[in-house]
Amino acid sequence: MAGGEQRGAPGGPERVALKKEIGLLSACAIIIGNIIGSGIFISPKGVLEHTGSVGLALIIWVLGGGVAALGSLCYAELGVTIPKSGGDYSYVTEIFGGLAGFLLLWSAVLIMYPTSLAVISLTFSNYVLQPVFPNCIPPYNASRILSMVCLLLLTWVNSSSVRWATRIQDIFTAGKLLALALIITVGFIQIFKGNYEELTPSKAFNFWMTPSVGHLALAFLQGSFAFSGWNFLNYVTEELVDPRRLCFSGAREGHLPSLLAMIHVKYCTPIPALLVCCLATLIIMLVGDTYTLINYVSFINYLCYGVTIIGLIVLRWKKPKIFRPIKVNLLIPIAYLAFWAFLLVFSLYSEPVVCGVGLIIIFTGVPVFFLGVYWRNKPKCVNRLIESVTCWGQKLCFVVYPQGGAAEEPAAHCHLPASDKSPRK
Ligand code: TRP
Repeated sequence: MAGGEQRGAPGGPERVALKKEIGLLSACAIIIGNIIGSGIFISPKGVLEHTGSVGLALIIWVLGGGVAALGSLCYAELGVTIPKSGGDYSYVTEIFGGLAGFLLLWSAVLIMYPTSLAVISLTFSNYVLQPVFPNCIPPYNASRILSMVCLLLLTWVNSSSVRWATRIQDIFTAGKLLALALIITVGFIQIFKGNYEELTPSKAFNFWMTPSVGHLALAFLQGSFAFSGWNFLNYVTEELVDPRRLCFSGAREGHLPSLLAMIHVKYCTPIPALLVCCLATLIIMLVGDTYTLINYVSFINYLCYGVTIIGLIVLRWKKPKIFRPIKVNLLIPIAYLAFWAFLLVFSLYSEPVVCGVGLIIIFTGVPVFFLGVYWRNKPKCVNRLIESVTCWGQKLCFVVYPQGGAAEEPAAHCHLPASDKSPRK
């Protein structure tokens, strides 16, 4: 999330652009803030339920970390071989073409990010409400309402000030790390006091139910939600040299409406993208309970990671000679993909409805791609309609296309008059 105001170089024309504000430390903070969300505070229950024993649950956690590490090594190679903004979306577009890239973007924008946001805010609300309901689990609707309020509040903060959004992010990252440190420290204190009976093999592998392979796949989906987001580094690395985020890359390729890449003329915040994300998250919150949402997002997320890593192998085969500053051992993507195939097959088998609906939503992107992207010579009236919707959206949100790198930018639809660019109260 690059952001900040950059309004006009000294002596030059006034520009509305994203600011190169991310240093190494902020980049690390953003990655930590992205990976450590709510997952670690909620999915341990899902992992334990599906594994049937503490010992196997711990094995799933270690395995989940290992698989995430293999995946991130592959992404490191892709990130330096295809130095383009947009992370996995750009790699898949470059290697497999527009349709595959569009489907990845479609599922990220419509499912992955809103669903993970929904899980994060539902978990937060659940913990906040727990003291109010000391003897029971907070009613789901109470958590739902509180999480919707939080979401609206955060959308407003993110729309109106990058500085405040960053501050809030920093405070919550510190809070999460503190909570984790507390849990870990208390755990070690107990171990050193000799209270580790539950961890001895005879107790740890004392199963209260025998898990099937399908159960293990679901346990893994739950655990991997907590590890998800490690690929965020690929977006952030780009932003270190050239601040853009996913929507900009999508709009540049003509895969997303340009309105979604526009930023507020004064606050430089991506208001249309924030509003779309907020709306999708609100709808998803109404759909399912937290654990189902986790299965849902992890499945689709895994699917996307795997397709991107298949892309790494295809690229090795198609362009063996291109310069790769980082080149991982081929066994790494192969090991990742073997695990990936196992997980997808068994999670489809155990949760056919959740995973099936996820797949259907991804494939609803196919007609949208052909109608919206592939079909270039649309009738004039359609183009005019698109332009007037964009223009109307621009006026409503007071946004323009980020300036800089003019050659790459889609044509502006609506020029806000200079007088309109004055700060809005
Ligand atoms: N790991 C995050 C958490 O524990 C969730 C998350 C961040 C995520 N980025 C994601 C989930 C991308 C799916 C896709 O809360």
